[in-house]
Formats: sequence, C-alpha cells, structure tokens
Amino acid sequence: MKVEQAVKELERAIQYIDNEYSCDDRVLKCPNPDGLAIALNVLKGEINAPNNKTILDPCCGGKQFWFNKNNPDALYQDIRKETVYWNEDNGHPKRKLEIDPDVIGDFTNMEFKDNTFSLVVFDPPHFNKLGNNSRTAKMYGKLLPTWEDDIRAGFSECFRVLNPNGTLVFKWNSTQIKVKDILELAEYSPLFGHTSGKRAKTHWITFMKSESQRKEAIHGLSQN
Ligand SMILES: C[S@@+](CC[C@H](N)C(=O)[O-])C[C@H]1O[C@@H](n2cnc3c(N)ncnc32)[C@H](O)[C@@H]1O
Repeated sequence: MKVEQAVKELERAIQYIDNEYSCDDRVLKCPNPDGLAIALNVLKGEINAPNNKTILDPCCGGKQFWFNKNNPDALYQDIRKETVYWNEDNGHPKRKLEIDPDVIGDFTNMEFKDNTFSLVVFDPPHFNKLGNNSRTAKMYGKLLPTWEDDIRAGFSECFRVLNPNGTLVFKWNSTQIKVKDILELAEYSPLFGHTSGKRAKTHWITFMKSESQRKEAIHGLSQN
C-alpha cells in the first residue's frame, strides 16, 4: 500500500464515522480493520523514516556493491568510520578503502524505530577465521566468537526496523560458515536466493517481513 492509498483509506474511515454509521452501504463501504491497520503502519513508517530514507544498509562498509554510493533514499550505517590501508595482496588492485557511514551504529542494537524502512540490505562480516591485519578483515570486518548471537540479533533488528511486508536482502559468503547454519538464526524463512562469484560461494537471499513467512508459520528450510 502506498502513502496516498493509506491516506485515502483513513479518509474513507473518517467519512464513514462522520456519517454516524447511518450511511447507505451502497454509497460508503464499511471500513475494513485490516486495511486500516496496514494504512496506519504505512503512515507510521513515513513518520519514523529518518529524513525520509526508505532503505537501510546497517553495515555498509565501503559500499562496494552500491551503484550509487550516496543514494538519496539510503541510510548507511557501520560500526566504524575509518580509512583502511593494506599492502599488496595477490595483485588486488586497491590499496585503501574508505568506510564512511552516515550513522555509526551496531546492527545488533539499532537506534531506529520499529517499522521504519521499506528495504534493508544486510551484509555482515562472513568470516570468523581471519588474521586481524589481513586485507579481508580490514575491508569487511571479522565475526567475533559471539557471532551466532550477533547475527541472530542482527536479523532480529533488521526485521524490527522493516515495515510490514518490507524486504530484507541478505548477502552471505559460505566459505567458512554454511548458508544453512546462518539461515537458522533468522526468525523468518527465506523466499528465494541466488549464488554468485567464481566459486559460487556468495549467496544473495531475499526475505519478506510477512507474518506468514515467520518460522512459526512455515516449518522446514530447504536452502543449502
Ligand atoms: C561484508 S562488510 C560490508 C561490505 C559492503 N556491503 C560493501 O558493499 O562494501 C561488513 C561490514 O560490517 C561492519 N560491521 C561489523 N560488525 C558490525 C556491527 N555489529 N554493526 C554494524 N556494522 C558492523 C564491518 O565494519 C564491515 O564494514
């Protein structure tokens, strides 16, 4: 539902109430409570969205996968703001990377209100076995020994700040931790996914914050 439709839905309900229920049903249709609840959530999302941002990247790193690294619809967050440098590494063409988020914050405990964004793209660190000074750790961060709790909390926070029926895109590299194991940490079931990269180890997985996609509603995961 779009904002304009949500406004219409509420206006229609007010019109109905103003008519003190005496209106002829053929002229004014009785307001539908489900429709009103959705309309309310859409409008709440509008109010809560920081500076009208509709997309959240809660751990943006160097924003390398963004076509526009300063997309006006997106709010970029990371736990650090720094420029990282590294020496030659297998002929990797880059030597430095700027991590420059709009907000410094932790994806396990975010400052945003519930139901704020239409789209969240979650690309946390994927590796727990890395040298702290390796290029990969500098560019992408490293999972802590508490990674299971951290990723579980990250998923939970991403879903909390998503609007109802909002989309979560999750990116994962399964070199060290299997997709199946990481998906167990999410409270919603994934809808579909796709692999990429030379060894097909990078997975792009899509979720929707819909009550019917909650794991209590659907049993069994099929993604490997
Ligand atoms: C895989 S990288 C993101 C790469 C990014 N998507 C890109 O296109 O370049 C993961 C990022 O998560 C950040 N990070 C790690 N733990 C975090 C946390 N608890 N909260 C927010 N960001 C975190 C790291 O600093 C790192 O920049």
